[in-house]
Amino acid sequence: MCGIFGYAGTKKDAAEIVFSGIRSLEYRGYDSWGVGVVPASKSKFLISPLAVKKQVGKIGQASIADLPQGSIAFGHTRWATHGGATVENAHPHLDCTKRFAVIHNGIIENYEMVRDKILRKKHTFRSQTDTEVVVHLIEELAQTQSLRQATRQAFNLIEGLNAFIVLDSQTKQLIAVRNGSPLVVGFGRGENFLASDASALLPYTKRVHFMEDNEMVIITDSQTEFFETKSGKKLKPLIQTLNWSFAQADLGKFPHFMLKEIYEQPKILSNISQVSTVEIKKIAGLIETAFGTYLVGCGTAAYACLAGSYLFSKVSGFHLNWAIGSEFGYQLDFLTPKSLVLALSQSGETMDILESVKKAKAKGAKIVSLVNVFGSSLYRLSDYSLLMGAGSEKAVASTKDFTAKLAHLTLLAYALKGKIKDGQKVVAQAAKVAAGICQRPDLSRLKKLAKLLKHKDHMYIIGRGLSYPAALETALKIKEISYIHAEGLPAGELKHGPLALVEKGTPCLAFLPGDETYGANLAGSMEMKARGGYLIGISYKPHEIFDYYIPVADCREATIIPNVVVAQLLAYYLAIERGLDPDKPRHLAKSVTVK
Ligand code: AGP
Repeated sequence: MCGIFGYAGTKKDAAEIVFSGIRSLEYRGYDSWGVGVVPASKSKFLISPLAVKKQVGKIGQASIADLPQGSIAFGHTRWATHGGATVENAHPHLDCTKRFAVIHNGIIENYEMVRDKILRKKHTFRSQTDTEVVVHLIEELAQTQSLRQATRQAFNLIEGLNAFIVLDSQTKQLIAVRNGSPLVVGFGRGENFLASDASALLPYTKRVHFMEDNEMVIITDSQTEFFETKSGKKLKPLIQTLNWSFAQADLGKFPHFMLKEIYEQPKILSNISQVSTVEIKKIAGLIETAFGTYLVGCGTAAYACLAGSYLFSKVSGFHLNWAIGSEFGYQLDFLTPKSLVLALSQSGETMDILESVKKAKAKGAKIVSLVNVFGSSLYRLSDYSLLMGAGSEKAVASTKDFTAKLAHLTLLAYALKGKIKDGQKVVAQAAKVAAGICQRPDLSRLKKLAKLLKHKDHMYIIGRGLSYPAALETALKIKEISYIHAEGLPAGELKHGPLALVEKGTPCLAFLPGDETYGANLAGSMEMKARGGYLIGISYKPHEIFDYYIPVADCREATIIPNVVVAQLLAYYLAIERGLDPDKPRHLAKSVTVK
């Protein structure tokens, strides 16, 4: 969702710093952007109105050289919720006097009430956004109290999950408040920062505080002050040090982050296969003693949950339920304080997951999370959190975090069986097979297949057992970055309806690992082939019915990992063949922080 970056310091190019900050957050997905700066004034008694620049579309080659010098600024990339992608609706929004500007992430559920009851009469609205209500509300409240109190009161008046930042040209302060949408404060030398994602702070500082819900911070060049929004009580920040390197968040020699992150997988998987087993065994112990364990995730993470349910059953005979994050909130009645929720999320900020986890916590359930972002909301909400160690994942399409989750779930399943060393061997083998797929001639085979399929409108992918979540994830990758309609199906379901869709030349991908599903899956593949489908076999051995063959060596339960690497690369090359940007697919965001 929206990208936020703020700067207060002694440098005079605050607008440029902020512009670079929101550029580094582009991967989150957006449709407009804006920067606001307090112009440097010759005399501290001379207050200049705020200077703002806003544009629709991607930042690309845009410039903000026309904005004045100044030492305090903020910027925003907007993913439209209320009101279309227009310049008027882009953030920041100014009050009537141009003293204040606000940027915002989230949804203000009672914005009509605030606008129509409190502000309509006396304020001029220029946009269709809910955000603009905040800046006029603060303008109104600041007439009779300090900006700090006015901001706190405005925050307590609005409803919904939000983070917003006020920039004040008079006091030269940034004031940020959050409830639900992530905000991180960065502490520099003679300068302080604010961002919606810690990775944006890496070029400037690694000393950060992850803001909690109902926290407020006042930021100037020389200091930061933290308060609790309800009571106004002063708070002490928990300063932590990020353990990422800036290089990790950089593109390097790759044309796109997605390809870079696909190629990082073998090394990450190999590292996971050698990771200390202490945390794995601890979580396995929690699963063993829980009265019911529920795997919960959204999108790609949901498919990791489904795969997990097969893994625990197949490897250690454990029954783990799984649910899609946005649905789990409607099926919580069975949870007890003995329940365990395993929440899976790359960003740790997905609203659908956070909402469900908060409800589960309210039922007394213990929360364990598998996340990839240190200090994320889910990381801090959990009783226990396992970091995936996949490094910063920038492409909207999740790849390396997904296979890292599969690897950790494999280790957990083997740990439950008391055979974690076997699990490490299986993951290490999957890393090797995945590495082979990223090299020639397998890669050339996938590029050629993408050329064959690039004009297709529909594709069907089938699998059984662990290949069923692989089929679902393949379909999602193809859909979200090549915009080709793709449907993942349990192979056994074909004859119950979807087979009617197969015509001559319809691409049908079939996962056929050499496990107990092979025979039945081959039957499903033959059913598609017999109706004219163009059969693409992804298997450990060729077969005469394949029109196209992608070899993937078996690595027991972890075969899903190299299978998914095939899917990621196919989706990537389909996007390239169709002239699309695989890192920033239309309408999508890296972290969906709205319901
Ligand atoms: C995956 O490629 C998609 N970008 C999307 O489905 C994603 O997995 C989902 O939004 C969940 O994100 P999270 O893992 O950060 O919670």
